[in-house]
Amino acid sequence: MAISKRKSLVGLDIGSHSIKVAEIVHTKGGRVLQNFGVILTPPGAVVEGSIKDQESVASAIKILYKNLRIRNRNVAASLSGYSVIAKKITLERMEEGKVEELIREEAEKYIPYDINEVNLDFAVLESEAEPEGGDQGKDEGSGPKQMEVLLVAAKREVIDKYVELIRAAGLNPGVLDADIFALQNAAEISLLEPETCYAIINLGAAELEINVVSHGVSIFSRDSSYGGAQLTEAIRSEFSIELRQAEQMKLGGMELDDQKKEALRKVVSKEVSSWVKEIKRALDFVSSTRAGDPIEKIIVSGGCSRIADLQKYLEAETGIPVEPLNPFRNLLIDHRRFDADYLEYMAPEAGVAVGLSLRYIDDK
Ligand SMILES: Nc1ncnc2c1ncn2[C@@H]1O[C@H](COP(=O)(O)OP(=O)(O)OP(=O)(O)O)[C@@H](O)[C@H]1O
Ligand SMILES: [Mg+2]
Repeated sequence: MAISKRKSLVGLDIGSHSIKVAEIVHTKGGRVLQNFGVILTPPGAVVEGSIKDQESVASAIKILYKNLRIRNRNVAASLSGYSVIAKKITLERMEEGKVEELIREEAEKYIPYDINEVNLDFAVLESEAEPEGGDQGKDEGSGPKQMEVLLVAAKREVIDKYVELIRAAGLNPGVLDADIFALQNAAEISLLEPETCYAIINLGAAELEINVVSHGVSIFSRDSSYGGAQLTEAIRSEFSIELRQAEQMKLGGMELDDQKKEALRKVVSKEVSSWVKEIKRALDFVSSTRAGDPIEKIIVSGGCSRIADLQKYLEAETGIPVEPLNPFRNLLIDHRRFDADYLEYMAPEAGVAVGLSLRYIDDK
């Protein structure tokens, strides 16, 4: 056990629509929300999880830090999209040291990139192949015992860009995580009744991230290019208006006559149903491979989860109860500093940043 006090980190979620920071301080009384804030990402500066314009993103982060007067310069950031792949693989049971030797070779089978261009990490998961005590479950001619390993691979080029960006913002990169794992951490501290198996969905501006968690471990994840930016684009095209106006219309900030209201409803509904279809396809796949471990709940987060129809339609299509993630739920909050309504409104977009801020600098 480490004797030294572990250094806490500020969670920094760099999305294509907005950048969020969250700082949580761990005290004897519990986790205290120290800071939270958001700034819009300069348009086009972040595209599907990769940094396209380092300078403008770095200056946005600097402004956010300054506005919030954050002192802690150690940050945890996260990768998303196609640049990071998490996959559960099955290996013959072996010692952890041996996995380390073998993992590159194994990863080649699963990673669609040149293996020399990725950073690999892994975690040996509790295996169901070896029940505690007793003989039940032991080989019935089923061959060697196996173990499950969570393999995480990230493109080195993308990691380097994140590290450079964080340094350019005058900060110190402490941990690089993945969006889906950060969200899982946020869900763990905020779920009132931890489910045995749940799906957590993040629907942001450019990415739809799906993670299925069973017994606290990610058993399936998938990222695809769906999100709010597509809906804004569809609205822009339907009404022949500018993107900024389309965004405003999407958020309900425009007076519309009945005809336009109906046209808008149709555009939203078409987009939402394509998202729901994608989610359902993934969850059906997971269910088909895991009899006896049904997904008991779907937790939704990300800006697009504010669309009421999304939650309703997702529940109707999958038959699984849907609940929004509120990462602030179990934090100690000084409401003289943070307006309760503001935090409630921001909760759908705050999951990744809050989850990241739970990490420590000496975490793996
Ligand atoms: N009430 C709302 N109704 C519809 N869409 C909304 C609403 N609020 C936010 N959004 C949309 O949610 C998106 C922003 O969500 P979020 O902050 O999760 O994205 P991001 O993290 O910046 O993007 P990404 O991670 O996908 O790159 C935007 O497309 C925004 O228009
Ligand atoms: Mg995001």
